[in-house]
Amino acid sequence: MTAQQTFRIAAIPADGVGAEVVEAGRAVLDALADASEGRFAFEWEQFPWGSGYYAQHGTMMADDGLDQLKDFDAIYFGAVGWPTVPDHISLWGLRLKICQSFDQWANVRPVEFLPGIQSPLRTSDDTDLNWVVVRENSEGEYAGLGGRNFSSRGDGGEIAVQSALFTEVGCERILRFAFDLARTRTRKKVSSVTKSNAQQYGMVLWDDVFKKVAVDYPDVETESVLVDAMAAKFVLDPADLSVVVASNLNADILSDLGSALAGSLGLAASANLNPERRFPSMFEPVHGSAPDIAGKGICNPVGAIGSAALMLEHFGLDDEAKAVRRAIEATTGNGVRTRDVGGTASTTEVTTAVIEHVLDS
Ligand code: NAI
Ligand code: MG
Repeated sequence: MTAQQTFRIAAIPADGVGAEVVEAGRAVLDALADASEGRFAFEWEQFPWGSGYYAQHGTMMADDGLDQLKDFDAIYFGAVGWPTVPDHISLWGLRLKICQSFDQWANVRPVEFLPGIQSPLRTSDDTDLNWVVVRENSEGEYAGLGGRNFSSRGDGGEIAVQSALFTEVGCERILRFAFDLARTRTRKKVSSVTKSNAQQYGMVLWDDVFKKVAVDYPDVETESVLVDAMAAKFVLDPADLSVVVASNLNADILSDLGSALAGSLGLAASANLNPERRFPSMFEPVHGSAPDIAGKGICNPVGAIGSAALMLEHFGLDDEAKAVRRAIEATTGNGVRTRDVGGTASTTEVTTAVIEHVLDS
């Protein structure tokens, strides 16, 4: 018998529905481990960081928080942000701090169209739609460069500069990542998204690197599309998409559009990867803390459970990741759905149904 593999996971539920969906994902993973007959186990440690922690300590995470996290095999994250703390403080103090300090430079966001969930895209009823948004996750518009000045001018006189940073190294590594991912998919195609007509420095550098990298992947189809046109293409011609790679801000927006087209923000999964594995990678749903529905037990856990499947893949547990994805499909297909996707089921009912299908498979 081979030795049991134990994966150490840091759970950070943080705020709002984050707590509910992280609990759902943990339950699915623990059920898988219990059923693995000793092949693998998950050892969880949960951290209380978030907006509640901020109210008590004045910081979003412990001062030595990054140190505490750095030796885990992965981080499983809920969502951060609550009306009591300005959003830029909560985001920079926790999620972006982790992403940037651990150089999680590739953010992978699959857009999946599930059975039993009606998409506003009618073509999804008779086409097998799914694509992946690859988001540059370390620089671009979220580099945090800039400042505010002239506050002494008083009301109305202040200025702010927020600069985007594009480096050849940053562009090249995310573009190569996108091409490598395209090679693993049925449709071998990369769509690169910029706004280089208006942003003539950073985005033109991105375009130049895209052309250079594409030469090394003659087997992969390519296209360059401006971000506004890509927003339209998500709606009008989604069957033509496979891997869509874009800068930090553009991919952030496009992935929300993708999950809304698939039926709900609550469906979309995401992996923040440090591909070199020098640091732990972080897995989280795309959605935020949803204060409007938090605490009611009705949020959709599918995005968080799908993120747990991406974490399983990261651990090399490919069959288990597939089993979780099939279980999600069986659950929505059987009509067990939360309200945001036209059903009446609670978060717990959806989670329990997914676990039952996982254990059946
Ligand atoms: P949001 O994603 O929390 O909510 C947008 C809409 O989607 C709401 O109507 C909400 O009810 C719905 N929704 C979100 N998740 C859902 C789920 N699992 N099931 C069913 N419906 C769901 O975005 P919003 O309202 O802009 O932001 C709320 C807070 O979350 C803010 O503080 C924001 O900064 C933060 N945020 C955090 C993110 C993160 O931690 N990764 C990402 C996006 C926002
Ligand atoms: Mg977002």
